[in-house]
Amino acid sequence: MLEIGTSNGYSTLWLAEAARVNGGRVVTLEHAADKAAMARANFARSGLEECIELLHADAGAWLARAADASVDLLFLDSDRGAYAGWWPDLRRVLRPGGLLVVDNALSHAAEIAPLEALLRREPGFACSTVAVGNGELLAVKPR
Ligand SMILES: C[S@@+](CC[C@H](N)C(=O)[O-])C[C@H]1O[C@@H](n2cnc3c(N)ncnc32)[C@H](O)[C@@H]1O
Repeated sequence: MLEIGTSNGYSTLWLAEAARVNGGRVVTLEHAADKAAMARANFARSGLEECIELLHADAGAWLARAADASVDLLFLDSDRGAYAGWWPDLRRVLRPGGLLVVDNALSHAAEIAPLEALLRREPGFACSTVAVGNGELLAVKPR
């Protein structure tokens, strides 16, 4: 799994719990040094550290170098204004059949709209917004 936007690592821990059950792992990206340090400390106390790789990195730069079709599940929760610009790389790194989850789809719908428009225009992507929490936009890449 790839998480973009770690903050203190709260959502990472939920992803890591699922990853552990499935023999997977989570790579999580955070560009703010203080938040990355906080997350690192939380991961060390969590018992899930072996499933988590925390990278202090800018997501746009990291995505540009990431391998094609290397991500099963991508959780997007960071700089919403950058999402549409990241779309070519988000689409490229997600494997066929992979799932993109975009947080704040309802709480910040206007900020998510440019990415959602691109997604819904994309042939074969199955998209749905789920009204849990702040709203999650789910999109499955066609096989
Ligand atoms: C809403 S918080 C993430 C919350 C976390 N996913 C959770 O639910 O526990 C967004 C985070 O994205 C980080 N961020 C914003 N733009 C980024 C970028 N270009 N690259 C990496 N991290 C970024 C911010 O520093 C912030 O910590």
